[in-house]
Amino acid sequence: MQFIDKRSTQKNNGRYYTPSNMVCFILDTANYCGDNILQKHIIDNSCGDGAFLCEIVRRYIEVSLQNKYSTEQIKHDLECYIHGIEIEKSEYQKCIDNLNKITELSGICNIQWDIKNTDALTCQDYNGKMDFVVGNPPYVRVHNLLDYSSVKQFYLTQQGMTDLYIVFYEIGINMLGKTGVLCYINPSSLFNSLAAKLLRKSLIQNQLLKKVIDLKHMQIFNATTYTAIVLLSQEKNNCIEYENYETQKIETLKYKDFYLDGNFYFSNPKNLIKIKNILFRQPEKNIVDVKNGFATLCDNFFIGQFDFDEYTIPVIKSSTGVTAQCFYPYDKNGKYIPFDELIKVPKIKDYYFQNAERLKSRSLENKNIWHIFGRSQGILDTWKNKYAINALIRHIDDIKLTPCPAGVGSYSGLYILTELSFNEIKDILLQQEFVDYIQSLGKYKQG
Ligand SMILES: C[S@@+](CC[C@H](N)C(=O)[O-])C[C@H]1O[C@@H](n2cnc3c(N)ncnc32)[C@H](O)[C@@H]1O
Repeated sequence: MQFIDKRSTQKNNGRYYTPSNMVCFILDTANYCGDNILQKHIIDNSCGDGAFLCEIVRRYIEVSLQNKYSTEQIKHDLECYIHGIEIEKSEYQKCIDNLNKITELSGICNIQWDIKNTDALTCQDYNGKMDFVVGNPPYVRVHNLLDYSSVKQFYLTQQGMTDLYIVFYEIGINMLGKTGVLCYINPSSLFNSLAAKLLRKSLIQNQLLKKVIDLKHMQIFNATTYTAIVLLSQEKNNCIEYENYETQKIETLKYKDFYLDGNFYFSNPKNLIKIKNILFRQPEKNIVDVKNGFATLCDNFFIGQFDFDEYTIPVIKSSTGVTAQCFYPYDKNGKYIPFDELIKVPKIKDYYFQNAERLKSRSLENKNIWHIFGRSQGILDTWKNKYAINALIRHIDDIKLTPCPAGVGSYSGLYILTELSFNEIKDILLQQEFVDYIQSLGKYKQG
């Protein structure tokens, strides 16, 4: 199924509409279908203009009509069982208008909707009462919020900096009745971010997690956010159904097999055993170190071809394995060469003066030292033997491993420091097992 539609456009403050076919998919995942929905309380506690609530109302009317409910009964049920919260006045108003348009089609008018224009963080009216909690909670870093105090009362924020969607888990779980289910779509950083660590622990300890549908590289919000659909239920689970949306593969995984060292790792049970062995092994010493290559923050000044030879070294672009020249204003110990020293070479002086403005406009660690790379990473290892490797790997064929001898730098990717030979490291990395391992870490980047 293709989920991107024209409604999935970004709104201000990182808010995104949920495309209507995705809404249907989430409601189906929560089993909000058929007669199961009648006289059941449901809420979207961050309802925006009503993407979820509109489909909920459509479903409720359809099933009620199939069950020959009167218009009066349907009106009563819509007012009694369907709930929403939205903080923005204009979104709230749009939501009411959208819902009215739907009910008017069935000749049901003047509904007193139970949609509140308020802050879900301070609203406790629904606690313990909901059969279904659904939605696409706001994804905003809480330090961007104007009023931080209401966030601090939540247990899941105790470990500091967090994302608002984590708080919405606590809010949603509090709203669940004894047999309630919650189904959210949210960033897949839930699997491994530090901010969500306490959330993961609490989902496992309380045996709430029931199903995860990992949307992998599918970008449903036209934004570089990797998303997953997460289903919770109060029925005391000890294993989950994990679906990889890309491959359509479904695995049943025991909590103890995928919740490892405080993170969620998803793969097939056989791979998870390997991951467990990797995570909990006690190596006598590290045989490889993987580090980030140069970050000049102005590659088209520092990397290319130059009409001077002084202070230049070869560099390898780790993402492609291609070699270029690098203007490298550092000595062999990684100390930067003072500006006054460098500009004794007339061509270097001209080069700096032609480009001073854009070098100064970088986001620098120290604004006064603008003539060097933007970050110091990689510099201390320039004169060591190493291998450049790309950072984004999905398939074996993507792996670009390139020898990067002493005196050659690497940028735009990673490099590996090891005593192993090129062939030894190549044999380890160029195999499906390594790619499976990377995939199970679930750390995605666009592209
Ligand atoms: C990601 S959007 C989702 C909207 C809608 N549920 C959808 O799926 O299209 C999140 C919504 O949460 C609202 N919101 C943000 N903070 C809120 C809060 N503290 N209480 C209630 N709603 C909030 C935003 O205004 C936004 O409309």
